[in-house]
Amino acid sequence: MQANSNILVSVLFFHLTIFSLCPVETLEPVTSGIAVVTALAASGLFAGYELLKCRMYECCDDRWLIANLTGMKTALESRLHGQHLVVDTTVRAITGHIKNKNPQKALVLAFHGWTGGGKNFVSKIIAEHLYHKGMESQYVHLFIATLHFPHASKVETYKDQLRTWIKGNTTKCPRTLFIFDEMDKMPEGLIDAIKPFLDVYPEINGVNYRKTTFIFLSNTGGNAITEHTIAHWEKGKRREEIKHKDMENVIILSAYNEHGGLWHSNIIEMNLISSFVPFLPLERKHVKMCIRDDLRAKNISDEKITEEILSKVADELQYHPPSKQLFSKSGCKRVSQKVDLILEDFDND
Ligand SMILES: *[C@@H]1O[C@H](CO)[C@@H](O)[C@H](O)[C@H]1NC(C)=O
Ligand SMILES: *[C@@H]1O[C@H](CO)[C@@H](O)[C@H](O)[C@H]1NC(C)=O
Ligand SMILES: *[C@@H]1O[C@H](CO)[C@@H](O)[C@H](O)[C@H]1NC(C)=O
Repeated sequence: MQANSNILVSVLFFHLTIFSLCPVETLEPVTSGIAVVTALAASGLFAGYELLKCRMYECCDDRWLIANLTGMKTALESRLHGQHLVVDTTVRAITGHIKNKNPQKALVLAFHGWTGGGKNFVSKIIAEHLYHKGMESQYVHLFIATLHFPHASKVETYKDQLRTWIKGNTTKCPRTLFIFDEMDKMPEGLIDAIKPFLDVYPEINGVNYRKTTFIFLSNTGGNAITEHTIAHWEKGKRREEIKHKDMENVIILSAYNEHGGLWHSNIIEMNLISSFVPFLPLERKHVKMCIRDDLRAKNISDEKITEEILSKVADELQYHPPSKQLFSKSGCKRVSQKVDLILEDFDND
């Protein structure tokens, strides 16, 4: 389809050029015939080259933009621990957006919760199931506040830069994924610069942003989420009974009121966020699951992964609140380093 239209366009263009360069009567049929054949050959070569190129190098086409949605769900269910509110919300939102040929606006997900709860991990799993090259894809962009936008005084420069980047990259491929990490450390006001891209405009200066996805990660709301989870626990209820709706309200309130990137931001005021995704603080038992995953990834056989090892690594982390020791302060974040330390001890014994 693509190849055929390439050929047609090239032939047409070649004809137009010839006839505008030479008066029609001076052009002999033979020359004209040769020209057409040459044009056909050239455009055929060009189309072939394009096809071959996209076979080897990443292009904005179905070969590289995969939509492994069932795989995404399975991966989240098996690899993410203790986050029942995350899987459903994200998979449903992404599936709805991708399957819609004509989405009304860009998909905007806001991930909230303490560090180590899996916000980056989930972003990575999403990228891996939407892009053949995952996070390495040229259509996936990760912005880290303290790395890309460190100085509050340069916010005006950053605004221009960000607009240019988003416009340029979306022009290159409409189905681009933008991930903003450390939203709570973004210079205030910066995020409002991209507001038009998240809104329901059909297009802005000829570029359509409705197929893009934005994911905002932040620790904002983490404390409120934890308090709510503790209160729930104190009532003797199961963690899995925590409802998305309750947590969503908790997040919206704190995302708006706590200082940080979304603070008093137009984005919240204008309802531009498609979905708030709460990441609950992780309990010791979830941390142990992460430890098990990490040991397996390091080729430790299952019979060697004893309860003793799991406890030993879990003891290396700090828990909150001090009196109850319910939740890991750093979630599963430092698990891999702690595992390395313990393995070293075992090797030395
Ligand atoms: C889809 O994702 C699953 C889970 O990650 C993976 O096992 C499977 O190979 C993927 N399928 C394709 C076609 O990439
Ligand atoms: C795409 O975004 C990157 C930053 O992730 C930027 O360096 C690059 O210039 C952008 N590309 C275009 C074409 O704007
Ligand atoms: C684990 O073992 C597999 C094959 O047994 C090997 O390919 C892989 O590199 C190993 N990984 C690590 C981290 O040692």
